[in-house]
Amino acid sequence: MEKIIIEGGKRLIGEINVHGAKNSALPILAATVLTTKRTVIHNCPKLTDIDAAINILEHLGCIVDHTEDCVTVDASNIGGSDIPDSLMREMRSSVVFLGAVLARTGKASFSTPGGCEIGLRPIDLHLFAMSRLGAVVKEDFGRLECECPNGLIGDEIILSFPSVGATENAILAAVTAKGTTTIINCAREPEISDLADFLNGCGAKISGAGEGTIVIEGVKQLAGTEHTVIPDRIEATTYMASAAVTQGKMILNGIIPAHLGPVIPIFEEAGCDISIMGRKLYISAPPRPKRIKSIKTMPYPGFPTDAQAPIMAMTTIADGTSVIIENIFESRYKHVNELSRLGAKIKVEGRMAVIEGVPGLYGAPVVAGDLRGGAALVVAGLAAEGITEIEGIAHIDRGHADFEKNLTMIGAVITRENG
Ligand code: UD1
Repeated sequence: MEKIIIEGGKRLIGEINVHGAKNSALPILAATVLTTKRTVIHNCPKLTDIDAAINILEHLGCIVDHTEDCVTVDASNIGGSDIPDSLMREMRSSVVFLGAVLARTGKASFSTPGGCEIGLRPIDLHLFAMSRLGAVVKEDFGRLECECPNGLIGDEIILSFPSVGATENAILAAVTAKGTTTIINCAREPEISDLADFLNGCGAKISGAGEGTIVIEGVKQLAGTEHTVIPDRIEATTYMASAAVTQGKMILNGIIPAHLGPVIPIFEEAGCDISIMGRKLYISAPPRPKRIKSIKTMPYPGFPTDAQAPIMAMTTIADGTSVIIENIFESRYKHVNELSRLGAKIKVEGRMAVIEGVPGLYGAPVVAGDLRGGAALVVAGLAAEGITEIEGIAHIDRGHADFEKNLTMIGAVITRENG
């Protein structure tokens, strides 16, 4: 079994180029299903989740070429409308293909995604959006069958919660629907705007992305485009947390400062000096992070749930007690037990975690249970004295390109071993 091995306690000093955002690249890859000409996507990170999305595209009949961080998709001859269980299981967020496949082929057949490491993750809002646009949705023996033999028809979709995935699916289904679709209480994450920019580049008519209401005027079909995926704000946050726990000095290249708006004040509260010049972020950490009074995860522009675990790792060694309230996912504290094995003092009650900072962590064997929780273990391992061995690294590989390579470049002692 593969493991990441970290000899902690090293100061991290240097520069890192932030990759393209996984959570943008995935819906954009799904969106290529709607296009009739070749699309070129730059800054697409090399990750197992991206490989899973490409496998789905190929299964549906697309011709895909993936070299370094560029993916080219030719969806002109798309044939399939079913995604087999094996491909759905490779990546839970494959449900983001639903809207695009349905709109392009008139039907979509998927296995239901079920729960995952961080909670139940229902898809009722996705299905609600599809049915508002006229799709007939049937669920049978763990499979979902959606149909719209006469095409989708634009309508008003009021989401009861600003779900990122449901907003993306609603957009993907609506861009080629007949008439106008208005999505109310939609997600405002930067990844939604990136998806809309990609689709508008292909000829879609989407306005309001990044705001609470999106209006889409359906077009007959989408052509191709060339698009560059936005930088990964969560990857950037994980590196910032790594700097914060190692008295580090880091430059992060390629970021979009506004996207880090919800997390920068947290690092400043922890005593980090942060400055921004263009698309570079400089972070310089104090000898020991200060405690964070209170963090509540919220939909964007609130504090991102994906940053909760790596920031919690930072607070484990803070000078004082920090409080985190997880409002988005119900079981997103799986990393707590593992952080405790490294010496952290954390109490969880329902959605609240109280972290009593300790002067230092010590290395131990731990297991990553989910993607961001795994990142938190790497952050904690970098801070800990001695050797931390992390198993379950397939979770980490879903979302962190060149993780060990980047950290090694700036002074970490981190390797990957088989066995
Ligand atoms: C996306 C991100 C994920 C991030 C999350 C919240 C991708 C690939 N993943 O996930 O990294 O943590 O946004 O920022 O972009 N919900 C329902 N019914 C639904 C859909 C969602 O009740 O039909 C609930 C979920 O259970 C969860 C909350 O809404 O409690 C937020 O989920 P959502 O915004 O949909 O997250 P994802 O799109 O799955």
